[in-house]
Formats: sequence, C-alpha cells, structure tokens
Amino acid sequence: MKTLVTGIAELVTNDPAQAHHRDPGDRLGLIAEAALLVEDGRVSWAGPSAEAPAPDAGTTVVDAGGRAVIPGFVDSHNHLVFAGDRTQEFAARMSGQAYSAGGIRTTVNATRAATEAELEANLVSLVDQARRQGTTTLEIKTGYGLTKDDELRALDIIARHTDEVTLLAAHVVPPEYAEDPDGYVDLVVEEIIPAAAKAKWIDVFCDRGAFTPEQTERILAAGREAGLLPRLHANQLQHGEGLALAARTGCFSADHATHATDEDLAAIAASGTVATLLPGAEFSTRAVYPDARRFVAAGVELALATDCNPGSSFTNSMPFCLAVAVRDMHFTPAQALHAATAGGAKALGRTDVGHLAAGARADFALLDAPSYVQLMYRPGVPLVERVFRGGEEVR
Ligand code: NIG
Ligand code: FE
Repeated sequence: MKTLVTGIAELVTNDPAQAHHRDPGDRLGLIAEAALLVEDGRVSWAGPSAEAPAPDAGTTVVDAGGRAVIPGFVDSHNHLVFAGDRTQEFAARMSGQAYSAGGIRTTVNATRAATEAELEANLVSLVDQARRQGTTTLEIKTGYGLTKDDELRALDIIARHTDEVTLLAAHVVPPEYAEDPDGYVDLVVEEIIPAAAKAKWIDVFCDRGAFTPEQTERILAAGREAGLLPRLHANQLQHGEGLALAARTGCFSADHATHATDEDLAAIAASGTVATLLPGAEFSTRAVYPDARRFVAAGVELALATDCNPGSSFTNSMPFCLAVAVRDMHFTPAQALHAATAGGAKALGRTDVGHLAAGARADFALLDAPSYVQLMYRPGVPLVERVFRGGEEVR
C-alpha cells in the first residue's frame, strides 16, 4: 500500500537531517511545498514536491491542497479509566475554591462501582475524540481503582487500546488505608506490581496529599524489579523532592513540574529526564503556569501532554494545550509543536513516532491551515482536518 501526499504548503518532519529548515534553531525540520510518501504504514520519503517520486499505478494520491502537515501528537500523560465526572468540583474551583488531590477519591468510588464495559466505553469515546484532534499515540494510566482487582482491571482495559500502559496504583492512598498509608504501599509493592504484567510503566504521584519521597522510591524500585520503566508525577501542588528524585532514579519523564528550582532543572537536564508540562492542569486548577523559558535555558527536553482526567484537566485536546503553552507558558510556537510530538515520543522512549523522517510510523495530521502556527494563533478552531495513523485515515 502506497500513499503519496502532495500539495503540502508546510511539512513539519522534526527531522534534523532536513536541509530545508526555515529556522535552523527550531528543530522542526520544516519543508515548504512538500510531499510525503507512505509505504506499508511507514514514511518512506519526505521532501520538496519538485523531488517527489512519481506515483505508480498502485499509489493513492492525497492532495493536501496547500495545507500544513504535522506529525500526529504524542499525548504522553492521560488518566482515562474512570467513571463519572466532577463538573461541580470544577464549578466550585472557578468560583474560588482551591484544588486538592482529595477529589481523586470521588472518582475512585465511581470507578469501582462501574462495570468493565462502562469503563471501556468511556475510554474508547475519549480516545476517539483525541484521535480526531490529531493525537496518534496515547499513554494511559490506571489510578482510580486502588485495589488489586480494580487496578488490574484498568490495566486490561488500557492494554486493549494502547501499548503505552502505565500502572499508577500509587495515585493516592485509598480511604480504607487512610490510617495505614504504608500498608497501602506494601500492597502496591508486594501484590499489585508483581501482577501488573500488562504495564510498561510505573508512575507515582509524589506530592502533598499523595505519596512521600520515601514511599515513591520504594514503589519505583519495586516497579523496576518487575521490569517496569519509571516516570513520575512531580511537584504539581507544591515544591518537593519529586524532580530531584526523578533525576536520581532515571525516570524517563517527570510530569507537571509546576514548582521547580534551578537546581531541579539542572538535575533533570543532566539525567536526560524529559519534563512533561501539562497546561490543562494549571488552566483547570487556576495554578501558576511553569515558564518554559527556564526549562529551555537549563537544557531540559520538554514534552507537552493533556493530563486528561475528570478532576484537574478534563481536556484531551492537544491543540488547546499548544495554544495555552504558547500564550501562558512562553513556549515559542515551534517549541510547543516539537514538545507535543517529538518531546512526547522521547518521554515514552519511542523513536518510531513523533516525527516524519523515513522509517517513522506514518502518523500525521492535515491542518485546515497553511502553517502549524495557526494551531496557536486560532485557538479553539477545529483546524485538524484529516488524521492518519500507520498510514490509515482515522475516522
Ligand atoms: O495528574 N496529579 C494527580 N493526578 C491527576 C489528577 C487527578 C484528579 O484530580 O482526579 C493529575 O493532575
Ligand atoms: Fe496526571
């Protein structure tokens, strides 16, 4: 199966080898007046239209008609196995109340009471929505079950829809362990992690009202022992040891990083830990946004993700997150798009997605705009017109 996309006004490849950069500093590997050839679900060639291979009889030609084409978004942080919503909690927050991790327990109760089919139907509808907005790779976490059976059930559901499966049994201490938080950590370490064969990642919410640095290290170590790769929710609600700990334990990514000192940034830059910023969370909890310029100056690799969950960030729109990242977190448009694609891929340890160099999985979006910059310039406008994943159009 061959598809040739022609008539691309601006092709973002994220390929450093592309010699046609408009701005060599922006890392997007932009090609103006471009074409893209896809064979058997992979990119086989990207370059200027004038150099495009001539389509043979078996090639489907897609005319982009002067649109921009970007790599599919890699949304590396999602909590999609849940039931119910927390509309009233959001309304109260927007009327002046503060966010606390305590609301997670409301969703835990609803999730435990739901059937597997109900949870899966909700996840599928959120994944479909994300895909139509250009997301072609999604990481999804557990974390609203918090019993062995409920966490394993969540892993089963997630594994049917993505390879990026994360065990977040250490989201908060469930009510039945309120008097014995270390007892819950024992359960996670001794019973849940060893049974989490479907997970790729181990994650912990290391923050006020969740898990201490000591508990976090114990859980990450147990995860590693079981062959899981480490990532962390770090320093969302207050400054703490989360980022330093992520650096020390070799986490692929430290997520949120809302509160970060210069020492924290130096540490994660040195360890190669990606900082995954989550604009939806600050937006929806009325928190102060982290400043991307500090991360860039410190040499930290950045990713952007939605953190889609019913409490702190109920959006699965990467275009929305891009617009907020540019407006309120001081990403440049080029840095934001790179973080939402190549940055997310790095945060997930993936080399096959997040870019459109030859060999990449053919995950891309056609925008109803001549430039990717319009994703931020025209916030809230549905500019993602067609989405391809593995060369197949997503409907
Ligand atoms: O990433 N920070 C912890 N977990 C989620 C919030 C989940 C919730 O409020 O239900 C987050 O923001
Ligand atoms: Fe989260």
